[in-house]
Amino acid sequence: MVFQKYIRRSDMISCVLCQDAPCSNACPEFEPGEALRSIWFDNPDVAALKYKESSYCATCNAPCEKACISKNIVPIKSIMKDLTEKVLPVTEIAIPDNEDRLKCDIGGVPLENPFLLSSSVVASTYDMCARAFEAGWAGVCFKTICSLDIHEASPRFSAITGDNGSIIGFKNIEQLSDHSVAENMSIFRKLKENYPTKFILASIMGQDEAEWESLAKLCEENGADAIELNFSCPNMMEDGLGSDIGQVPELVERFTRAAKRSTTIPVLAKLTPNVATMSPAAEAALRGGADGIAAINTIKSITGVNPYTLVSQPAVRGRSALGGYSGNAVKPIALRFISELGQNPALKEMHISGMGGIETWRDALEFILLGSGSIQITTAVMQYGYRIIDDLKSGLNYYLAQMGINSVKDIIGAGLDSVSETTDVLERDTILFPKFNDEDCIGCGRCYISCMDGGHQAIKFDNRIPKLDGSKCVGCHLCLLVCPQHAISVSKKRITRN
Ligand SMILES: Cc1cc2nc3c(=O)[nH]c(=O)nc-3n(C[C@H](O)[C@H](O)[C@H](O)COP(=O)(O)O)c2cc1C
Repeated sequence: MVFQKYIRRSDMISCVLCQDAPCSNACPEFEPGEALRSIWFDNPDVAALKYKESSYCATCNAPCEKACISKNIVPIKSIMKDLTEKVLPVTEIAIPDNEDRLKCDIGGVPLENPFLLSSSVVASTYDMCARAFEAGWAGVCFKTICSLDIHEASPRFSAITGDNGSIIGFKNIEQLSDHSVAENMSIFRKLKENYPTKFILASIMGQDEAEWESLAKLCEENGADAIELNFSCPNMMEDGLGSDIGQVPELVERFTRAAKRSTTIPVLAKLTPNVATMSPAAEAALRGGADGIAAINTIKSITGVNPYTLVSQPAVRGRSALGGYSGNAVKPIALRFISELGQNPALKEMHISGMGGIETWRDALEFILLGSGSIQITTAVMQYGYRIIDDLKSGLNYYLAQMGINSVKDIIGAGLDSVSETTDVLERDTILFPKFNDEDCIGCGRCYISCMDGGHQAIKFDNRIPKLDGSKCVGCHLCLLVCPQHAISVSKKRITRN
């Protein structure tokens, strides 16, 4: 597995990942647009193996680059060359010929792979779910069904973006499905009829016990494979709904019990991260009879305040409100909650459906290693489309095959042992030094600046060459993290203090 060593997203930062990519249309031999996407989504090995024959590129006059519509033309030819010359030689296995190792389940109901759309706009109509199924998603968690009168504000999103404009963190103030319950039930029936092997997870929100019970029953009768109880939407207009429930274990237990009373299919409680710890609500869901937990829903947030209007984002006719934060920026927080659930012995038998910031197969793998048995995604789909499923599946499948793992189920929770809730367990006597790789260093001095002003003054910078002063280095690795060229690695050299 190449693990970003030879080719990275930053090598193609000017690529805008076009719809109907002009580079692919211009190339008589390959689909460079697809290869670029695979690199973007951490899947260069599979791209290199697919485009094995791209030595063709050496002799062509790069119509792909001429067709590129990005303002800064993407160096497609040299990227394809890197795939063939740098990545391909270090791939260890061929692309596996089937995806059987991705098969898993939620509460015994089969999933052809671990990937579902999470409950949101991305899974809110028949047509959208059908297109997602055709694209290869194993299932959908349908947009939360309720009997409330839903009117959404405009605009309803805001985002924190990276240097290349891609969304890092995403805020929404959206509520639930604005279709009637009857409309949504007819969508379920049609989806089940036309896609019987795909998984329909029905997200519901009741206003009292009777409604949690009746909605769960209706969903089962109309083809849902499992129910997800929305105890976690942070954007409800009325008190006592959504994350107000998820913050009160007694309510979680009571409403879970109500839903379980009327159903025979698995029930997951979707919990809020707007709490100090998730275990009290998760254990309450277990007491109420839940078969699993889904987490995380979005985090209450403010993404920015306009310095001229003084209104926070998104501004709705001069006002704004707290809203739910999602996307790649929330992944560390989500992983923390997933590991909390995964490590809790009381929840051992519960399925964990993990989400929050997943974009690539490696993100998904991290959730699986910390205890998730299935994966749900919204924000990355809103940004990049259903097509990300290609690299999610092929990347995870390739990783499993390469590691000799026959089933994704075998590694659920395999990374939990290394996580400690507190830092007191860590060994503190060894210093791991950084190593400057002369070949890649361009002498920018960023490591020096950070070490001087944010570290321990352990780097000297003469003639644009960084040098380590081992007597001062504490092995914090800040230099390694700030190097824009990834030219600093971890040395084998270490010292052990007494
Ligand atoms: C626009 C938007 C609408 C959402 N609507 C719902 C919803 O109706 N029900 C629900 O349980 N979660 C809803 N969510 C939360 C997502 O299902 C998911 O838990 C969260 O966004 C974290 O995953 P992500 O980082 O992959 O987006 C919504 C999220 C977004 C961004």
